[in-house]
Amino acid sequence: MRGMMQQTNPKHIVLGITGGIAAYKAAELSRLLVKQGITVQVAMTDAATHFITSATMQALTGRPVLVDQWQDDKGISHIQSTHAADTIVIVPATADFIAKLAHGLADDLLSTLCLARNCPLIVAPAMNKQMWSNAATQRNVQQLIADGVTLLGPVSGIQACGEEGMGRMLEAEELARDIVALLQGSETLDRTSLPLTPRERGLDGLNILITAGPTYEAIDAVRGITNRSSGKMGYAIAQAAQELGAEVTLVSGPTALSHPYGTLVVDVTSAAEMFDAVKKHVDSADIFIGVAAVADYRVAQSSAQKIKKNGGNLTLELVPNPDILAYVAALPNAPFCVGFAAESENLREYAEQKRRSKKLPLLAANLAQQAIGADDNELILFDDAGEHPLPRTDKLALARVLLLHASSLYHKGKSK
Ligand code: C5P
Repeated sequence: MRGMMQQTNPKHIVLGITGGIAAYKAAELSRLLVKQGITVQVAMTDAATHFITSATMQALTGRPVLVDQWQDDKGISHIQSTHAADTIVIVPATADFIAKLAHGLADDLLSTLCLARNCPLIVAPAMNKQMWSNAATQRNVQQLIADGVTLLGPVSGIQACGEEGMGRMLEAEELARDIVALLQGSETLDRTSLPLTPRERGLDGLNILITAGPTYEAIDAVRGITNRSSGKMGYAIAQAAQELGAEVTLVSGPTALSHPYGTLVVDVTSAAEMFDAVKKHVDSADIFIGVAAVADYRVAQSSAQKIKKNGGNLTLELVPNPDILAYVAALPNAPFCVGFAAESENLREYAEQKRRSKKLPLLAANLAQQAIGADDNELILFDDAGEHPLPRTDKLALARVLLLHASSLYHKGKSK
């Protein structure tokens, strides 16, 4: 557990439980939160009571559990009582409940509390992988993020149905850690402190230029130098930015991915070509995100023909490639620049060094061995306020959070 809560400033959480098999983890979560000195008021949907009893939750939290909205005064006193809450946390959040939240429905006590809240909302989705990847769920999740709701997970793993895939809820320990971090004001994913409308938190009307994938530096007609990069993170950012309303230009090195819908893709091979394409499009960019794993060196003289083996050693002279991101960040009217750092060790130290040396307002760091080629990832965002770890989830969900954080900082900068 990452530090104890300040006892001088006791926190109050409404823990909403909806009807999924992961509801059993809410019991352990409430125990861990109560142990931290947090007041936990449980509110369950009717469906949740089929998975875990209100008696269990009452015993663990020491407070009567809210279930039926018609039990006294049509829920009005409950709405008032939750106004003392520092946050509402939904654990687990089913696909159905996420859909309700996204559409502002209030047909039971818990959804009414969520709609009537005046505090941040944290949601821990849990569902079968098909339900998670369904376009409707993804649309709803995107809507929640655009509305400033914080998502914790889901992650990939074995599911209750026996299948393996994305949709498994985080473990109670991980949830408790992240909830406590959010409550402690580490602002991990919390953008609600910024005076921004939901529309401003989105990317409507912004031009976003993104580099993605590796570059390939030819040695001769058939051989070359490249970096291990699938392009998945950069493509996920391009897709998420497009879905959030941005005009997206994606300058992509060679990848096996299909072009994200609705984006302008400029395919390049070498760092020099990537640099040219960025220079061509940077003037109209509001935000530049350098995700590409650009090869640091190219061969001084590449050969148009295949170099023949002669059994002896071959020496190649390598010359440095231009640093595209550093160039863009140093432009007189530079767009808001976001960098990436993939490191195999000393992640925090190297990432901060990189952010300082390239003069970036925001940098996302990941461990190369965890990130390369994978569908999910863990990021730490570094900005002037410090570091903000984002829990392991799929790259598209991470991309959305990263973009909303970038958008918040961008708008905050503009309003100064
Ligand atoms: O390679 P390095 O770790 O310095 O990469 C950090 C950031 O700089 C990444 O965002 C990467 O896309 C960018 N970069 C670049 N041009 C380079 C090298 C890196 O834009 N030649």
